[in-house]
Amino acid sequence: MSKIKSAFFCQGCGYEAAKWLGKCPSCGEWNTFVEEMIEKPSKNVVAFSNETKHSKPQLIQEVVKQEEERRTLKDSELHRVLGGGLVPGSIILLGGDPGIGKSTLLLQLAISDSIKTLYVSGEESDRQIKMRADRIGRVNDTCFLLTETNLQNIVLHANEIQPEIIIIDSIQTLFSSHIESSPGSISQVRECTAQLLRYAKQTNIPIFLIGHITKDGTLAGPKVLEHMVDVVLQFEGDRNHIYRLLRTIKNRFGSTNELGIYEMHGAGLRGVENPSEILITNTDKDLSGIAIASTIEGMRPLLVEVQALVSSAAYGTPQRSSTGFDAKRLNMLLAVLEKRCGFKLGSKDVFLNIAGGIKVDDPAIDLAVAISVLSSNADLAIPKTIAFAGEIGLSGEIRPVNRIEQRISEAEKLGYKQIVVSKYSKGLELKKSEIEVFSCGKIEEVVKFVFA
Ligand code: TYD
Ligand code: MG
Repeated sequence: MSKIKSAFFCQGCGYEAAKWLGKCPSCGEWNTFVEEMIEKPSKNVVAFSNETKHSKPQLIQEVVKQEEERRTLKDSELHRVLGGGLVPGSIILLGGDPGIGKSTLLLQLAISDSIKTLYVSGEESDRQIKMRADRIGRVNDTCFLLTETNLQNIVLHANEIQPEIIIIDSIQTLFSSHIESSPGSISQVRECTAQLLRYAKQTNIPIFLIGHITKDGTLAGPKVLEHMVDVVLQFEGDRNHIYRLLRTIKNRFGSTNELGIYEMHGAGLRGVENPSEILITNTDKDLSGIAIASTIEGMRPLLVEVQALVSSAAYGTPQRSSTGFDAKRLNMLLAVLEKRCGFKLGSKDVFLNIAGGIKVDDPAIDLAVAISVLSSNADLAIPKTIAFAGEIGLSGEIRPVNRIEQRISEAEKLGYKQIVVSKYSKGLELKKSEIEVFSCGKIEEVVKFVFA
């Protein structure tokens, strides 16, 4: 007989304690402890054990490197984000807000690639999934659906079907009968992931796990989940816009700098090959308050449109709001403009928006943000042939940004005639290009150049 016992787990980080605690000693969060029943598996119920395998230490030079046959995926964005294909036996965790398209992305992989797939859903019925598959289109005959939440049953079915990929939607709905606590609890999530991990390594079947996200945007479940899996992907975007970004947060088999860009259509997700072209509005008239920034997202250069609106504050305290750009950084840039260039923005409302609903962290966008604010303030349009790439320091200096050649050539490719960069950027002299590179050291010089 196995002994049933209970323990208290922090729902934030997975810390285990014998008694209830008000504050988690590990992550410092308050009121996160929940009692969960755990049952230590008795010796004879070990599900997939490695005990029969002999392991012994060996010299690293003597380890035979098996050529990891990476599987090519038809979805070229996912293929690239995974670091160039799917590694056998890997576990990939896909997180994202509800309704962002996680199930769609993986169902699309299951039905449009000619890989034998087992799609396990604990959230939707077969009919619902079939409806979605019909929406996406061409359904091949290599995708098996299973609506099941018991892990042991899933493994039995997988052994029978022998799929080449398993997709679990979602890890929070699974439960293992070896553990008493309810699905979605820390100990269940951890146990199910551990068992799937062992299964993947034994059978060499890659497994995709869909994970829920908490209110503050981190993956629900303990941090240990992220440590256990091989790859963590995040699917993000604004639900009201059609663009979705697929980022790598962790990848044991490749770089985490890759980024996939998708458009959500009526018939599923479509990879975007030329992201810069779609993010910029093509209007005939020159409008004030719009500046184009040459940014780098992951490894790819991406031209984005920054829109600003400056108006006199209707109420006492001026409002500052920004979408897709850090609000604190906007305040800092406004202070720099006020102090260094003498623009009186203190009594103005400032609204900032990055077109397309995407979020940009690249500091190279600073220059475009500052210039678009000034453009809207003076109601003077910026010529549509100029792009910007530079970080602004607290004294108003334009600081160099990384991979400037790539940014310049992307702007050139899209037909821009001039680009404003920092004069401290390295390697500018060497480059021969069609586009005129205007390098300056201070924000005042940029203002003169643009609005002269
Ligand atoms: P879904 O994959 O269910 O999201 P998640 O699994 O991350 O919760 O995506 C649901 C949204 O995607 C839903 O709001 C409708 C939209 N959608 C489309 O716009 N086109 C489509 O072809 C599909 C299948 C979904
Ligand atoms: Mg879903």
